[in-house]
Amino acid sequence: MTMERSITAFSFALLAGLVSSLVPVVQAQQIPGFISIDCGATNVYTEDEIRIRYETDEGFIDSGQNKQISMTFIHEGYRQCLNNLRSFPNRKRNCYTLKPDQGKNNTYLIRARFYYGNYDEKNQIPSFDLYIDVNYWTTVNYLGPGYEEIMYVSPADDIQVCLVNTGNGVPFISALELRHIDDDGIYRLRSGFLEHAGRLDIGGASDSFIRYPKDVYDRIWETEDYAGWIFLDTPSIINSSDDNDAYKVPSEVLRTAQSSINGSTPLRLGWTPSSSAEKWIVYFYFVEIERLTNGLQREFTVSMKNNQFMEIVSLEYLKPVVVVSTPVSGSLITFSIESTNKSGNPPILNAVEFYTIGDLPNVPTAQDDVKAINDIKATYHIQKESWQGDPCIPSIYTWDGLNCSNGNPPRIISLKLSSSNLVGDIVSSLSRLSTMEDLDLSNNKLTGAIPETLAELPNLRFLNLSGNNLIGSVPKALKKRVLDNTLIMSLAGNTNLCLADPCVQKKKQNSILVPVVTSVSGFFLVLFGALAIVWLMKRKRKAESSEMTLRLKNRPFTYGEVSRITRNFGRVIGEGGFGKVYLGTLDDGTMVAVKILSKSSKQGYKEFQAEVQLLMIVRHENLVSLFGYCGDSKHIALIYEYMVNGNLRQHLSGAYLCSFLLFSSLK
Ligand SMILES: *[C@@H]1O[C@H](CO)[C@@H](O)[C@H](O)[C@H]1NC(C)=O
Ligand SMILES: *[C@@H]1O[C@H](CO)[C@@H](O)[C@H](O)[C@H]1NC(C)=O
Ligand SMILES: *[C@@H]1O[C@H](CO)[C@@H](O)[C@H](O)[C@H]1NC(C)=O
Ligand SMILES: *[C@@H]1O[C@H](CO)[C@@H](O)[C@H](O)[C@H]1NC(C)=O
Ligand SMILES: *[C@@H]1O[C@H](CO)[C@@H](O)[C@H](O)[C@H]1NC(C)=O
Ligand SMILES: *[C@@H]1O[C@H](CO)[C@@H](O)[C@H](O)[C@H]1NC(C)=O
Repeated sequence: MTMERSITAFSFALLAGLVSSLVPVVQAQQIPGFISIDCGATNVYTEDEIRIRYETDEGFIDSGQNKQISMTFIHEGYRQCLNNLRSFPNRKRNCYTLKPDQGKNNTYLIRARFYYGNYDEKNQIPSFDLYIDVNYWTTVNYLGPGYEEIMYVSPADDIQVCLVNTGNGVPFISALELRHIDDDGIYRLRSGFLEHAGRLDIGGASDSFIRYPKDVYDRIWETEDYAGWIFLDTPSIINSSDDNDAYKVPSEVLRTAQSSINGSTPLRLGWTPSSSAEKWIVYFYFVEIERLTNGLQREFTVSMKNNQFMEIVSLEYLKPVVVVSTPVSGSLITFSIESTNKSGNPPILNAVEFYTIGDLPNVPTAQDDVKAINDIKATYHIQKESWQGDPCIPSIYTWDGLNCSNGNPPRIISLKLSSSNLVGDIVSSLSRLSTMEDLDLSNNKLTGAIPETLAELPNLRFLNLSGNNLIGSVPKALKKRVLDNTLIMSLAGNTNLCLADPCVQKKKQNSILVPVVTSVSGFFLVLFGALAIVWLMKRKRKAESSEMTLRLKNRPFTYGEVSRITRNFGRVIGEGGFGKVYLGTLDDGTMVAVKILSKSSKQGYKEFQAEVQLLMIVRHENLVSLFGYCGDSKHIALIYEYMVNGNLRQHLSGAYLCSFLLFSSLK
């Protein structure tokens, strides 16, 4: 936490936000590259002194409650944004989504402010975790007011700041600020992010601080005066030199400095990190603000004792020089700034920034998937508790109803939104979840046609659209996938969906399907339970309804019978994705094909349903469809009429329960 890091050479000045700066009041406008949210605020307003407009949480988060801090904690000098907060008593993870115009692969300063202020009158400071996108940022547990700040290169167009309840109190946040750093190089690491530990305007004139508008990036420079160091300042304006233009450190920060007492005394900055594993990066800002006589130049080394870092600096009048350390670590970190013998002048320091490096071990979900799933969430107004932040990562917070691959990046591979009150068309974003394997939208109120694009999902193996109000015909491409044994599809309970192929307009007279006793009828009548027949007769108007899959639970064949029919599985006539097909002969001489579900196939019941539906989908006019199936706990078989020349149904595979069906078109 920013406030508590100890840097032994000095103590940090009061937090920004405690003290007001004196900037003329100017009409506010939206500042390009800035997002400023006063969490818990009820209306938009402008902080006149800093000319920054604060918005409410609206549009940034869809959970939490607005709260006021206790009156006794309100202080006049505090920023307005600290007077209220947003607390999150309900969900485990709550995320603000920031959408900066500049989008991904840009560097942003992100600052989150916290001031507990006994808002819940429990007098108990909560502790909770803060995440930046999918990665841990820090743990917040202070009375405050305090803030956490990072320099972060966004991997995605949207940035999420998440508060995670770790079981130690209700998370809350007072304000959230984002500033785009338009020169990218200056705070960009090869990996990880910079976590702010201090930003000091050395020798600053007052106990005030400098931020926007003087600092175009709204960095907050706290004044620091080291005891025993000499004050220096200049009235001159310090313009950025070409070399260091990018840093845009305000002239007000650079025009004051401190030096050591004399040329033989170094300046030392030392502190004890909370862990010796912590990696620190220090930004030193130097400008010569004294006119040295006789062409003398200030020259000094900036170094760490053990040579982890060393650099020589020569200054020219009013020309800023920036020295950025390499990442350094240790149980005690001490930088010394020491005059070289050439100079003779004491070393100076105008400003300094301290950062630790935060790791980003977790890779966020693929952006296309994130966009698609957020679109789905928005379209169907999905309000599930866990649907916040990254859909897959961290894996303990994967959204309810999703499964993801462990890849780099992780992808969404299954989505189960059955009985989720989805209303409307099947949204096209579903077809953009391109690694989807298992999609279950059953038992909703989905209407409209089934989009053909679903067939373009290369890995889609299960598609459950049952229990909706879909209309139209089943797209050819999906049927083909079913026939190819690459997709198991459930469409039951869509009473207005046309399953026939080709889809015939509903003219009841000529597309009626009824059970017909065919040449093999004798056999079937023996095996058929009378109930099945009665049911089928009743069902004649809509024999194509896939609802019948739910009722095919009569028992005709035993495994022994199947074995006998196939002469102990003597002749294989085909092999599909799910098992082998054997030739068999019924007692009356009818040749049948018997498909046995292979033991290695785990799809059992799902497959069964798909098969039955498939039969109905692919049934051709005038073609006698005939099949039965058999299953006990160990064996699953599907039996159907054997067409010597082959037909679509050779693709069929196993089923769970023994039953028989016999029907044909009346055409
Ligand atoms: C991100 O930006 C940096 C610097 O602007 C550039 O070097 C890098 O190639 C970019 N990376 C991607 C993935 O666009
Ligand atoms: C800084 O820039 C201003 C305006 O461009 C100029 O008037 C001034 O002389 C410059 N100062 C220095 C020290 O270069
Ligand atoms: C520089 O200051 C130190 C500390 O006050 C003192 O001990 C030393 O004698 C001084 N050196 C010179 C050359 O004045
Ligand atoms: C300055 O000179 C002294 C002796 O001449 C030497 O010991 C010391 O290391 C030099 N300091 C630097 C910073 O070069
Ligand atoms: C995710 O995978 C687990 C384990 O395989 C399974 O139990 C669960 O049903 C799956 N969830 C979804 C939404 O597919
Ligand atoms: C499809 O969903 C329904 C309702 O949720 C369920 O009863 C059925 O078993 C599912 N079908 C498959 C093949 O998983």
